[in-house]
Amino acid sequence: MVHSLRIRPGGALHGRIRVGGAKNSVLKLMAATILARGTHVLHNVPRISDVDYMAELLRSMGLSVQWLGPDSMEIVRPDAIVSEAPYELVERMRASIVVLGPLLASEGMARVALPGGDDFGPRPIDMHLRALEDLGVRFTTSHGFVEATTDQLVGANLLLEFPSVGATENAMMAGVLATGTTVIDNAAREPEIADLANFLNAMGGSVTGAGSSTVVIEGVTSLHPATHEVIPDRIEAATFLAAIGVAGGEVVVERARIDHMEMLVTKLVDMGMTIDQTPEGLAVCGPERLRSVDVATLPYPGIATDYKPMLVAMLATADGVGIVTENLFAGRFRYIDELVRMGADIRTEGHHAVVRGLPQLSGAPVKAPDIRAGAALAVAALAAEGETIISGADHIERGYEHFVDKLSGIGVDIAVAQ
Ligand code: EPU
Repeated sequence: MVHSLRIRPGGALHGRIRVGGAKNSVLKLMAATILARGTHVLHNVPRISDVDYMAELLRSMGLSVQWLGPDSMEIVRPDAIVSEAPYELVERMRASIVVLGPLLASEGMARVALPGGDDFGPRPIDMHLRALEDLGVRFTTSHGFVEATTDQLVGANLLLEFPSVGATENAMMAGVLATGTTVIDNAAREPEIADLANFLNAMGGSVTGAGSSTVVIEGVTSLHPATHEVIPDRIEAATFLAAIGVAGGEVVVERARIDHMEMLVTKLVDMGMTIDQTPEGLAVCGPERLRSVDVATLPYPGIATDYKPMLVAMLATADGVGIVTENLFAGRFRYIDELVRMGADIRTEGHHAVVRGLPQLSGAPVKAPDIRAGAALAVAALAAEGETIISGADHIERGYEHFVDKLSGIGVDIAVAQ
């Protein structure tokens, strides 16, 4: 496991960098294998620690998970499984909560540890529970666990208070084996939701409308195992775009899809970048110096909250002043203190940050508070004079595969520091 990274600015970037499978899709696809007995195969699976954590969780339930090659994974779901997600595993990865829907759909019961908050604030699961309750689940919570049972899931009209990604996914994975029709209104519209729907349909489910605000699920009586290729990780792609924006140069970001990140690409073009879709991915060109823009995070298709740390790092070295507004996670500004240690001029007020761009930052020892913030510090280091040492880099490994090798491949001066 990597604990610290050392990065020095190395000039403009050149060459090709390949985007892996989407973390926020594959974790849910892995959970969805609980729904059908037999052997599933997932391709384009990223080699990240969150995938290892989800594999461990599935193994603890009795499924067998193994790599078939560099990025293919076989998951065998046996007849009998243990319908429980223990605290030690849920505590490590909050996304574990997505096993709730599939366990209820296939076993009629589940005992899942309650996830705590994380480094960017409290993260409740009330919308997950409300949606499942509407489908006929009874819940009790005690001793830090949610205990859920149902005699039969029954399709229903669900209206989400907010287009929550996880609540939409849990409701889809429960609704797919419910009797009758489930309609999810105000559903999350992320590309990862459509990827999950495609996997469920490949398993024999009937899900339409995924990617729009209304997802319709006709319940089926059983599902069969499937083979599926995970969509590319748009947030990893955005991180590479940010690096090219800050360092300059010309790079092909292989497999990246503009249709999954249109709003972000529009912003980056406003900042002075050139980004074109080609059959291989995105042909990207960084300017001499970025121009500042204002940014507000919103649910998809708005600018994702996960892009924001990268955008703040870009604005820290851009020409002008940018105002950044966080609308999804209250506390997601913690990495800004680290950027300020690198000389950035950033003030925060409630859920807004005012970023005054400087031509250069100053390399410093900094700490990665979470996955995306860690990646953003690496981006900022490309415009920092001297050396930046990022500790807590194991956070980066939760969501980025071969981070050092991939960035070195386009000319970033990056190495493991210990
Ligand atoms: N929320 C509630 N109640 C709920 C569920 C969510 O109040 O029952 C609130 C959250 O606290 C938050 C907002 O609704 O303020 C959005 O949360 P959402 O449920 O959409 O997020 P999530 O499913 O928990 C996924 C990604 C996050 C990403 C968000 C938003 C995964 C594993 N995680 O989380 O990704 O930031 O959607 O797009 O899919 C990351 O990759 O680093 C990451 C944190």
